[in-house]
Formats: sequence, C-alpha cells, structure tokens
Amino acid sequence: MASESRKRKSPERESMPFGDDSGKPRILLAACGCVAAVQFGHICKCFSEWAEVKAVATDDALSFIDRATIPKDVVLYTDEDDWRSWGTTADGILHIQLRRWAEILVIAPVSANTLAKIAGGLCDNLLTCIVRAWDYSKPVFVAPSMNFFLWKSPFTDNVLLSLKELGIALITPASKSMADDGDHGNGTLADPVNIYGTVRLSYESRRRSGGSDG
Ligand SMILES: Cc1cc2nc3c(=O)[nH]c(=O)nc-3n(C[C@H](O)[C@H](O)[C@H](O)COP(=O)(O)O)c2cc1C
Repeated sequence: MASESRKRKSPERESMPFGDDSGKPRILLAACGCVAAVQFGHICKCFSEWAEVKAVATDDALSFIDRATIPKDVVLYTDEDDWRSWGTTADGILHIQLRRWAEILVIAPVSANTLAKIAGGLCDNLLTCIVRAWDYSKPVFVAPSMNFFLWKSPFTDNVLLSLKELGIALITPASKSMADDGDHGNGTLADPVNIYGTVRLSYESRRRSGGSDG
C-alpha cells in the first residue's frame, strides 16, 4: 500500500503540460541502471533539438545520471513521481499519461534487468508500467548496455526473441573493450548520435509511408 508521503500530490505534477502540442515528435526517453546512463543527459540533448522530449529514469539509473546534464526543457520523471502524482481516484496516473503522450519510446541505456522484465511482462516501476501498458502500434526502441558476459549469456537470446515478437526494435550495442574490467566484445551502448539517427530515420520513414498518426 502506498505510504502517505507517496500519496501526497506534487504541485509540479498537477500542472504537467500533457496537452501541449508543439507539432514536434513526442519522444519518451528512458534510462536504466547501467554505467552508460552517465550519457543520458547527452542523449536527451541529441533528441531535444529535434523533438519534444520527456524522460524517465529507474531508481538505479539515478545513481548514474547527473541531473544538471538534463536539458532544461526536459522533465525527468521517476518512480516517486508516479506515486506522488496520484492522490484520489479523480487523478490521472502518470505512467498511463506518459504512455498516451508519447509517440515513440526509446530506452537508452536499457539494462539486462529491465530487458528481462519487459520480456516477462513485469511492471514494478514507472518505466516497466509504461512498457507493459504500451500501444505496440507505436514504436519502441531499446539500446542495451551491459558487460560482455551479461550480453553473451543464454538469457539474452530468449529475451531478445520475446522483444522481437512484441515488435520492439533493438539498437545493437557497440563492440569495444570495457575499460574497467578488461572484457572485450559487444555490450557497450551504441553511440548516442547513432541512437538518435536510428530513431529519427525510422520516424521520418513512417511519416512518409503514413504509418505515424503524428
Ligand atoms: C556499479 C554498477 C554498474 C552496473 N552497470 C550495469 C550495466 O552497465 N548494465 C546492466 O545491465 N546492469 C548494470 N548493473 C546492474 C543493474 O544496475 C541492476 O541490475 C539493477 O537492478 C538495474 O535496475 P533497472 O533495470 O531498474 O534500472 C550495474 C550495477 C552496479 C552496482
């Protein structure tokens, strides 16, 4: 059961501009508890020059994100916000509002843990509730980042198969040596510019083919 402090409504959340429409693509960017989440501010910046961006971080991602690097026009939502924005049955639910608002969901970086939770349909935080409630006619991209041994684990094959069935697009990790532990191979987050380029190309090609409802 939610604690009293969780139930208290945040004034900031009451005035969330979900109705605003700048005409730009509405991109929901999310980060998980990976070392590469230190780049999340930079990833937000790449997208925010082109799109309207809202951001979501898991609790463990917050250990790696320096909030000062998040562009001023990007609001960062956390699990606490999901609870604080709800006080009575008359209130909206943040993960449903964000799921409605977004045209595209991009999880960069996505952790081994969240990938497995998505594949299994678990929804125990803001991000996985959004993913579980997602309308899969709208694109979802995941950009994994993890140690080579986690990436090469047999679990990864099963997880990626489930994601493929859901139509979730994989932005393949880069291949390079992991400086801190000396392991070599795939698993490193793709370059943020490539993540942005992949999503933008896909959006523009959907627009041209009439696949996006804008
Ligand atoms: C210092 C540290 C670095 C970590 N880096 C990664 C990582 O790069 N990729 C990954 O998948 N998990 C990494 N983990 C493990 C995740 O943080 C852990 O599985 C966590 O539960 C992920 O939570 P989330 O999926 O809700 O963000 C790391 C853990 C620690 C303590």
